[in-house]
Amino acid sequence: MGRLFDFMLPENKSPLTADPTDGLFHFINEVSLILLLGITIALIYFAIKYKRKSEDDETPVIYHNHALEITWSVVPLLICLVIFGWGYSGWLNLKAVPADAYEIHVTGFKWNWAVNYENGAQTLNEVHVPKGRPVKIVLQSRDVLHSFFVPDYRVKHDVVPGRYTYVWFQAEETGESQIFCTEYCGTSHSDMLAKVIVHEPEEFETWLEINGGGPSGTPVEQGEALVMQQGCQTCHSIDGSPKLAPSFKGLFGKTEQLDDGSSINVDENYLRESIINPAAKIVNGYNNIMPPYEGLLNDDEVTNIIEYIKTLK
Ligand code: CUA
Repeated sequence: MGRLFDFMLPENKSPLTADPTDGLFHFINEVSLILLLGITIALIYFAIKYKRKSEDDETPVIYHNHALEITWSVVPLLICLVIFGWGYSGWLNLKAVPADAYEIHVTGFKWNWAVNYENGAQTLNEVHVPKGRPVKIVLQSRDVLHSFFVPDYRVKHDVVPGRYTYVWFQAEETGESQIFCTEYCGTSHSDMLAKVIVHEPEEFETWLEINGGGPSGTPVEQGEALVMQQGCQTCHSIDGSPKLAPSFKGLFGKTEQLDDGSSINVDENYLRESIINPAAKIVNGYNNIMPPYEGLLNDDEVTNIIEYIKTLK
């Protein structure tokens, strides 16, 4: 369906994420156009109608017009409320990743995007995805702030050193879409480009198989090896049995009670913090005995350990 401001938008290749954004974009532009025309026409009309016609042409003194004042307050308020509600529901949609999303890790660093797949495949500046399936991109940065932007899917998110952020989309066309870095990150910021490459689902599986299982194994295998090397299992069981620290089994996605009375949902950022700086949040009933791993594990190692913990359901 063609709309007046379509020319301002790139092609929509992920309707599930782009449609709400585009709808609001068109609404704001169309309302703005109507207001612009209305105000301009009224301005010209009044300028002509109330032009001073003679020397003794006096302007009447008017203090109030309640009907007019209420109208010009309430109408913009209603428009703003519509825009707010629409924007908020669109934001919730972009945050609510479908449960069956295929997960890919993307790490920004000056000035490239490193891409890691669950079977150990790795690419640089190319994100390979299957068509017609939701894809969750987990973002992290090795150095400074970057921002991951795919205009065709209307998704954009800051890529922040020291924490995980994410976007999701569902590409409905095979082919390529441009990825930009949209946070100024130094000399070659504008060259920090990459592509999403969308395959037919079977073709994607084949691509993964050919490129998968590097020399060091999948992220989950590497994470499991790290857990053994670092001695995590001394205090954290992987089968749910009680030890000195919470078990890894069923940990991801669960709600933990903390010793300060608050509770927290165990997600990637909580696990990351608990590895880097375990003292920050102590689970109720346990002691603060774990050493901080800050500087001992790099970002990729922390991510791999988390990927391993996520498999222990
Ligand atoms: Cu990375 Cu700009």
